[in-house]
Parts: sequence; C-alpha cells; structure tokens
Amino acid sequence: MDTQRNDDISKLKFPDDFINKIICGDALQLIKKIPNRKIDLILTDPPYGLGKEGVYSDENLTTFYKILPECYRVLRDNSFFITFFSTKFLPALFKHNPFTYFWQIILYCPEGAVRSPIGITKYMSCFVFKKGNPKIISRNRDLFIDTPGKLVEPDEGFIDHPTPKPKHFIKEILRMFSKEGDLVLDPFIGSGSTAVACKQLKRRFIGFEINKRYYQLAQKRLFRVNL
Ligand SMILES: C[S@@+](CC[C@H](N)C(=O)[O-])C[C@H]1O[C@@H](n2cnc3c(N)ncnc32)[C@H](O)[C@@H]1O
Repeated sequence: MDTQRNDDISKLKFPDDFINKIICGDALQLIKKIPNRKIDLILTDPPYGLGKEGVYSDENLTTFYKILPECYRVLRDNSFFITFFSTKFLPALFKHNPFTYFWQIILYCPEGAVRSPIGITKYMSCFVFKKGNPKIISRNRDLFIDTPGKLVEPDEGFIDHPTPKPKHFIKEILRMFSKEGDLVLDPFIGSGSTAVACKQLKRRFIGFEINKRYYQLAQKRLFRVNL
C-alpha cells in the first residue's frame, strides 16, 4: 500500500496542512500532529474487523484502541465523538473507551443484505459518545433510512470503496451535532463521504486515509463538490 512517507508526515504543520484537507497516511501518526482540544466533532467509521478486500481489518481492534485516547485529546471539551461500529464487536466498543456513552443512531438499509450469524443484517449503527456535557445543535431522531443503498450516491453514481457511508445520513449527523464553521475530524475517511458532506454543509474538516487508492477517490469526490 502506497502511503505518505514518515518524513513527509513530519513536515506537515497544523493548522495549514490539515484544515479542509484529506491526508494520505496512517491516522495513528497523523493525529499526533493535531494539538490538544482543536476539534469540534469527531465522526468516523473505523476498520473494525471488516474483512473487506482492500481494507485493513483491525480484527483485534488494535488501531481503534490506540486512536481512542488521541481522539479524546484532540477533541474540545463538551463535544461529541461519533463512530459507526459493528453489532458483532459491540462489547469491545466500551472497553478502553475514555468517552461517555450517549446514544445509538440506526441507519436502516432496506436493500442491505449483509450476512450475519442471525441471518442477514439490515441496519448500521452509529454510536454517539461525549466528552463533558455537549449540547445537541439540532434535535432530530435516531432512525434514518439508507435511500439508495448498494454503494451508490444519487448525485455521484457508484462509489468504488467497499464501505462508503451515505452522504445524506452523514449530513443528518453533522446537522445534529455540529454548527457551520466547526472543525470535524474523520481519521478513517475511506471514500471521503465525511469531507464531501462537510464541504456541502460549510463545516471545516480533516480526513486521514491510509490507502492511496481510496485517498485519490476521496480527493476526486471532494474536488467535484460544487458549492
Ligand atoms: C470503514 S472504512 C471508512 C469508509 C468511509 N466512512 C466512507 O464513507 O467511505 C475505513 C477506512 O479506514 C482506512 N484505514 C484503515 N487503517 C487506517 C489507518 N491506520 N489510518 C488511516 N486510514 C486507515 C481503510 O483503508 C478504510 O478506507
């Protein structure tokens, strides 16, 4: 996998090389360049035991557990940490977790057919944690529907990544838990959905992606956003 070299990473300076940028490299190294309490919201989708081709799987959640304390450090006080996570690994989400659990938001996927021990799974879960006592910016609900499904965005077509998250859902989350101008971090940005949604909703963002092909896809999607 071709990623940003360590010496390149050491040259990056916060904030100019980070804000409104997607950086190709290891999130565990890159996040260390962000000073304490600079991020208003973390919204992410880590590689929790995915077992998908081309995506590092993190079966034993080593990467996830290593990044959690760094996420806590860079997040402002009284802010939210929101993460997609699998039902299979759910108990592990609460281990080594410095954040306080707040809520669960479900994305119902009528066209979804992910094989699971129960038969098929037709939803994704997004878990909302908090640092301190943040306020919700815009109250909404905790159940949404994945309208197009099948790795397709209505305005972009097929997204060539194994697990892209729908922008309309990301936008609902952004409106609930952040304001215009807020700085949103997604350390595992994949195809770039969080950055694209942030740009469309006038949030600032920082994204990290270790796989060069997905990094290039995310850059292309971001470049195409017309405001
Ligand atoms: C579940 S996917 C994220 C999908 C994303 N939410 C989207 O909408 O496309 C997780 C991503 O994390 C990336 N990844 C895995 N380990 C990483 C690391 N150490 N640093 C940065 N990215 C990493 C994988 O290549 C993968 O694209």
